[in-house]
Amino acid sequence: MLQLDLSNARAFLPGNFLASRQAALTDAADKLHTGSGAGGDFTGWVKLPTNYDRKEFDRIKGAAKKIQTDSQVLVVIGIGGSYLGARAVIELLCSNNYNLVKKSTPDVVFVGNGLSTDAMLEAIALIGERDFSVNVISKSGTTTEPAVAFRIFKGLLEAKYGKRAAAKRIYATTDKARGALKQLADREGYETFVVPDDIGGRYSVLTAVGLLPIAVAGVDIDALMSGAAQAMQALAVPGEDNVAWQYAAARHALYESGKRIEIQACYEPRFRFFSEWWKQLYGESEGKDGKGLFPASVEFSADLHSMGQYIQDGHRTLFETVIRFEQPQGKLLIPTDPDNVDGLNFLAGKSLAFVNEQALRGTVLAHVDGGVPNLILTLPAIRPDAVGWMIYFFEYVCGLSGYLLQVNPFDQPGVEAYKKNMFALLGKPGYEDRKAELESRL
Ligand code: PA5
Repeated sequence: MLQLDLSNARAFLPGNFLASRQAALTDAADKLHTGSGAGGDFTGWVKLPTNYDRKEFDRIKGAAKKIQTDSQVLVVIGIGGSYLGARAVIELLCSNNYNLVKKSTPDVVFVGNGLSTDAMLEAIALIGERDFSVNVISKSGTTTEPAVAFRIFKGLLEAKYGKRAAAKRIYATTDKARGALKQLADREGYETFVVPDDIGGRYSVLTAVGLLPIAVAGVDIDALMSGAAQAMQALAVPGEDNVAWQYAAARHALYESGKRIEIQACYEPRFRFFSEWWKQLYGESEGKDGKGLFPASVEFSADLHSMGQYIQDGHRTLFETVIRFEQPQGKLLIPTDPDNVDGLNFLAGKSLAFVNEQALRGTVLAHVDGGVPNLILTLPAIRPDAVGWMIYFFEYVCGLSGYLLQVNPFDQPGVEAYKKNMFALLGKPGYEDRKAELESRL
């Protein structure tokens, strides 16, 4: 399903880059499969594509149908791993203009992923008088951004439908037993879905966290899971032919040679949020203990007219991973113009996909000439099974990469620092000393 072309990175890699990491990769894969490495309690995603709760999966489909029937808008409340996966898949498989497209499925509005007043007011205005439901997603049930958004939307729902009918429009995805959201859901009678104990936020897109909003948008979640299951089977086979081992080894070798930034590049605008999901996955998993590649992303060819300059000519600490889809969903031919004022008749009759592909090929060579290794990942088309395959692939490589780097790929201690300061400045009880100290510095 997914092919990795390393030919445009070979000149930057030692000849034995894979063989020399064989033992470390064997160890890393073993840690992922047995849960015996750092953070091993959070490796439930490794077997998830075949080992998931079928009854809950059916409930997800049932809830999605109900929402499609009784709502014109689904409001999805969540942040980080409780947000990016659903948005990534909906934009990639449906459209990055999903809410603008004429369709039979509800609009999906994402809130609770920040604290902007204007963004929140705009979301409320966009929903307007339309019927809506809410999917509030928080594993901990205590994250400030979604908790604040949920207060607001719970109030709006109750004002519009009354408390009892509103409760039938609220779907809570959270821990199976713990947390404020679970308590509230049980008390108010919301339908609940589970974020499994052994799956962290950024690895949770194929749980109810991602699947409910994705199913509401009309995506075939059976095909998504089946693609992930195929990847799980393929990538569990150890050895140098394993495409996840190859990618993990190549990016680790590039890191050891001094590269510090991995840029994910795609020529499809609908891929943008997939890159946002990928950035969280890799940034939170690898960026710790003073180590890790900084994950960045660009949208080509648009960004060739902006960031292209830096990539071609700036600090040589970068490499690119290009995501390439063989087939676009539609077809468009370039017309002939009898006047040919723009001189483009040499392209007349050619497909736009052909032009996009030549842009990709030319850019890869230009960037390689500029000292930027290019790794190319090719998928047949943007369709649910291929996207499921790709999700699992990136998760699996991320786990391997964390262990190659000798970090815990499943914790995120660094995200606590801002939270403590924010709570202190907001006057949360228990943070009085820190508040005084911070205020004195500001
Ligand atoms: O990957 C992670 O763990 C984080 O991005 C969390 O998903 C994010 O902080 C949201 O946490 P929660 O789902 O507990 O609200």
